[in-house]
Amino acid sequence: MNSKLWGGRFSKETDRRVEAFTSSLDCDARLWEVDIRASLAHARMLGATGIVTTAEAERMVEGLEQVAADLREGRTQFAPRAEDVHSEIERLLTVKIGPVAGKLHTARSRNDQVATDTRLFLREQIDFMQEDLHRIQAWLIEKSELNQRTVLPGLTHMQHAQPVSLAHHLMAYFWMFQRDRERLTDIRGRTNRLPLGSAALAGTGFPIDRRMVARELGFEGLCENSLDAVSDRDFIVEFLSASSLVMMHLSRLCEELILWSMPEFGFVILDDGVTTGSSIMPQKKNPDVAELIRGRVGRVYGQLMASLTMLKALPLAYNRDLQEDKVHLFDALDTVTASLKMMHIMLATAEFRVARMSEALEGDFSNATDLADYLVQKGVAFRQAHEVVGKVVVHCLRTGQALEGLTGEALREFHPDFGDDVVDRLAHDAVMAARTSEGGTAPDAVDRQIDAARGLHESQRPPDYIASRASSLPN
Ligand code: ARG
Repeated sequence: MNSKLWGGRFSKETDRRVEAFTSSLDCDARLWEVDIRASLAHARMLGATGIVTTAEAERMVEGLEQVAADLREGRTQFAPRAEDVHSEIERLLTVKIGPVAGKLHTARSRNDQVATDTRLFLREQIDFMQEDLHRIQAWLIEKSELNQRTVLPGLTHMQHAQPVSLAHHLMAYFWMFQRDRERLTDIRGRTNRLPLGSAALAGTGFPIDRRMVARELGFEGLCENSLDAVSDRDFIVEFLSASSLVMMHLSRLCEELILWSMPEFGFVILDDGVTTGSSIMPQKKNPDVAELIRGRVGRVYGQLMASLTMLKALPLAYNRDLQEDKVHLFDALDTVTASLKMMHIMLATAEFRVARMSEALEGDFSNATDLADYLVQKGVAFRQAHEVVGKVVVHCLRTGQALEGLTGEALREFHPDFGDDVVDRLAHDAVMAARTSEGGTAPDAVDRQIDAARGLHESQRPPDYIASRASSLPN
């Protein structure tokens, strides 16, 4: 009396409001392609193991391929009141091939099916995200190679601290994104395990071949415990956590682009194509893209928290709560993917104003440490040198002079060990070039850093099939 695929036990139709409340189709419809891919592997396995006849398996495979083609070409639509993508594809298959479609669900449950689909889907999305990160890293390396001698104020507490090169500053972001990529690689490994064959929760008595299905779908291994397999969503939490860090890194870069583009800094001009205007103030050019990426970080953090909370205290095995996983996953995924693409566009079209950067260093005292270091090299204790230079700074502030404007003679008033050669040491490019320690901002050190980065970047390319597919996508 109930037309659902599980309707046999029910004596009346489901309340329409309950249907609307429980349906996941709006969200999971985008799994249709991986759902069919997994079903194809399952159908072939059912045939190969003799659980269904070869002819039945072939019929199901053909039918699934037709359903896929229909969906791809827009010849068929999902029924608006359908429960979820899995039941809908089974319905479409039944329309195509008749009652034999009912054999596809042998030795399978939607519980292991949805877990399999989500893993297949996420695995591919991780590869796309690697591609987006890799592209931003390529830009960072390229820009850094050109700017190893471009100097700007390095800040701590948002106050001028010591000069750094633009290359050094940009490469800091390379390493953030490198850690993001490493995390994603790690997560991909744990995502890439096959739950299918766990059936509802306890496995199945049919002589299935899980390894065959895993091989066909490109999984690296099996989920070892059927209860865990259908209830595990750790891979989603891990992905949302890694995505939160990606967004956090993007937001830090956005914040700097926003600051750098304000007139007081003037270090960067964002392209007209990636900025917006004001409906009242004709002069305005606003960095909205950067602001929106910054603003959407909370959305991804929120989906991480929502997923953790959804999973908390959930007993084994499958519970319907788990259906919410995809709402959180897809929203975060769309947000981070769009943000990465936007960041690349914004960076690739940005104009850096290097003259403004060096102007900002004039008389900013960011060479004060070097004045102290000079005395230290003459044998003065650093603490004492620090004190002496502090007094020099106060003197300059009172008299409106820059440190680099003082002569050796003027400096000897503060300490007898200052020689005339100290003046050259205070030029900002010399100050930057003096920081030669490994990982420091001197051009040679940055050169070694870029070499290391380029090695990693070239050896850790996203999979080739992604590269070829991504090339047809808008950048
Ligand atoms: N739409 C469900 C989900 O996404 C599929 C699994 C449903 N299983 C069930 N026994 N109701 O989680």
